[in-house]
Amino acid sequence: MKKAQIELLKWYEKEGRHELPWRLTDNLYHVYLSEIMLQQTQVNRVRDEYYPQFLAKFPSLKALANAHQDDVLAAWSGLGYYSRARNLHKTAKLTQNGLPQTTKELMALPGIGEYTASAVCSFGLSQNVAVIDTNIARVIKRHFALLEPKVKTLSKQAKMFVNAKEPRSHNLALMDLGSLICLPKNPKCKECPLENSCLGKAEPEIYTKTKKTVYENMELFLGVCIKDDKIALETATQKMYKDMLVLPNVEPIEEDFIAEFKHSYTKYRITVKLYNIQGVQEDLRWINLKDLNTAPISSLTKKAQKFF
Ligand code: ADE
Repeated sequence: MKKAQIELLKWYEKEGRHELPWRLTDNLYHVYLSEIMLQQTQVNRVRDEYYPQFLAKFPSLKALANAHQDDVLAAWSGLGYYSRARNLHKTAKLTQNGLPQTTKELMALPGIGEYTASAVCSFGLSQNVAVIDTNIARVIKRHFALLEPKVKTLSKQAKMFVNAKEPRSHNLALMDLGSLICLPKNPKCKECPLENSCLGKAEPEIYTKTKKTVYENMELFLGVCIKDDKIALETATQKMYKDMLVLPNVEPIEEDFIAEFKHSYTKYRITVKLYNIQGVQEDLRWINLKDLNTAPISSLTKKAQKFF
């Protein structure tokens, strides 16, 4: 075990992604923000766009807590899974003077589960905890030949493997190993620092049975009502886009058809059909077309923009 831990750290020293901005800071808010963004979003998009832009707008927990939810959602616009932004905002309001520093207390906050809590404690505070994301889970399962282990078994094994002297680097190393070497398909075992001790290397792909996403097709009929360079949007109440500004749903009328386009969001394959509408209910928000870019709108609405 010791030898494997040392080989892993040596590899990380040489090959790890040390330059990622959230790895160069011990600001807990920055670490926390990066972990929330990195759930379901690619590293490059977070690093190059959303993380620096969000921090420029909301440089501290206090600044975030004092912001209007519309502005927080607008900074998240295009990232998807908008509950992440709402929960981030709620958590900021609850912890303006600093995030708590234990996994238990962190997990009591909105939107923070076991993964995020342990990531914050490991990457932000160098605490001796195991971090288990999808990549790390795969590495652990393979290295210790755990075939479809229970969550508890996996977590126990990950904990036993943590290098108590260098827990932060150990977890980051496992994360990078999972995303660069120990790939789900055709892992690069010849380049792996853990090849010698790996118990799963003979049949690495038996450890990566993943649930296939079942996609659902759906059609959306949306209304476009523009007056004096302003467009009517409504505040979404459905869970998926809650509190975002969305185009209103309409009954489709053939003569008013504008355009149709495809959009994917989470498990949905959506065919969006846009229709001109005249009258709208009173509770809609009128947004200047030139201000749409700074409004809390989704990628779907951004796509629709080119048709009006
Ligand atoms: N570094 C720290 N946390 C990370 C994450 N979730 N994804 C990629 N790199 C990271």
